[in-house]
Amino acid sequence: MDKIQLDIKQVLGTVSQSDIDALKGAAADGFSKLINANGAGNDFLGWLRLPSETTESLLDDINASAALLRKECEAVVCIGIGGSYLGAKAVVSALGNSLGKDNGPELLFAGQNIGEDYLYELQQYLKGKRFGIIVISKSGTTTEPAIAFRILKEQLEAQVGRAEAGRLIVAITDAKRGALRTLADTEGYKTFVIADNVGGRFSVLTPVGLLPIAVAGYDIKALVAGAAAMEQCTLDGTDTMAMEYAMTRNALYRAGKKIEILVNYNPKLHFVGEWWKQLYGESEGKDGKGIFPAAVDNSTDLHSMGQWIQEGERIIFETVLSVEKPDHEVRIPSDKENLDGLNYLAGKRVDEVNKMAELGTRIAHVDGGVPNMRLIVPALTEQYLGQLIYFFEAACGISGYILGVNPFNQPGVEAYKRNMFALLEKPGYEEATKAIKARL
Ligand code: PA5
Repeated sequence: MDKIQLDIKQVLGTVSQSDIDALKGAAADGFSKLINANGAGNDFLGWLRLPSETTESLLDDINASAALLRKECEAVVCIGIGGSYLGAKAVVSALGNSLGKDNGPELLFAGQNIGEDYLYELQQYLKGKRFGIIVISKSGTTTEPAIAFRILKEQLEAQVGRAEAGRLIVAITDAKRGALRTLADTEGYKTFVIADNVGGRFSVLTPVGLLPIAVAGYDIKALVAGAAAMEQCTLDGTDTMAMEYAMTRNALYRAGKKIEILVNYNPKLHFVGEWWKQLYGESEGKDGKGIFPAAVDNSTDLHSMGQWIQEGERIIFETVLSVEKPDHEVRIPSDKENLDGLNYLAGKRVDEVNKMAELGTRIAHVDGGVPNMRLIVPALTEQYLGQLIYFFEAACGISGYILGVNPFNQPGVEAYKRNMFALLEKPGYEEATKAIKARL
């Protein structure tokens, strides 16, 4: 199978190969902590061998649920936030039609914000439509998806009756714990389980990501096979790309490059950037440390962020997701008048122009003091996306250990929740409510 490739040559003006190699010991140590499950956060390593351990029967079961929703629904609303949202959104966007007009039910998302207008407009859109719901929450208690689910469940029941709604709702949650588990068991929903040892941001290859991806009509077996191929060569040491990426970004960080920008030249990859930001931000941003993960969609953002990247404070480096082959071909026509002066491009594919924008930008940025890594993805297919997901996950674990943090916890995420619950006067938060109100 062809593979995604990493090219780090264009960082070597900023850090040397020996700066990168100096981290080999720390990277090997991080890798060994993953393999031997003896590092911080070792109870959250379920993702490490997940692709190869995913059974055909689980994938068949997911495909069967997806087939039911595809057959019976005009739209399916996928409710979840963070790790229970971004992986599916990333893969579906990368594989889907840019205008969102794929075959099968329309896949909509909710519970990823608390926007009242968003929910109102979604409710209006779903009025009179036959829709299904996939509700995803590992903890089963997250406020944003819980609110969206309560509202949309009520709407669905009002539209089709409680029994029929129960057939069109699938819950993905913990095996035993949480309000969503209790609700699903009481209502008799079809459920899938999120294993205890897989954190939200590492859960795209569990039913959390796989069911929505299958509902959107994509081949989850190929996605998992791609990830399994990357798992095998990463864990048996025949592919050191994850180690190399982890070492290089840490060498750059130590050289003062505090921000990594994940760059794409294909708008379908916007949500891969969002997924990656959560994966690296939540894994590494702690203990007062961590590379800040940012993302841009080029060439769009070259017309907004390009100035800063070219000439702003030199604390950034870029990792460019470079897709070799687009799915479709569009050529630039010749024009007799040539009033726009574009005939020099006549007959060329749009992708040739895009590739030159990418190359020209890389040269300019490297010249301007922005080291570049390039991650080459042969095409946007399930197999390559599976490889990419596993590569980023494995590299993230190694990179977090090189940095000296626990890559698998997220204690900082609780701070806003405590304040929000105190302000909302949630039962159990009485003291916190008094304390926070005294500060206002
Ligand atoms: O990675 C994480 O832990 C978070 O992004 C969670 O996935 C997110 O908060 C949603 O949590 P839950 O699935 O428990 O509703």
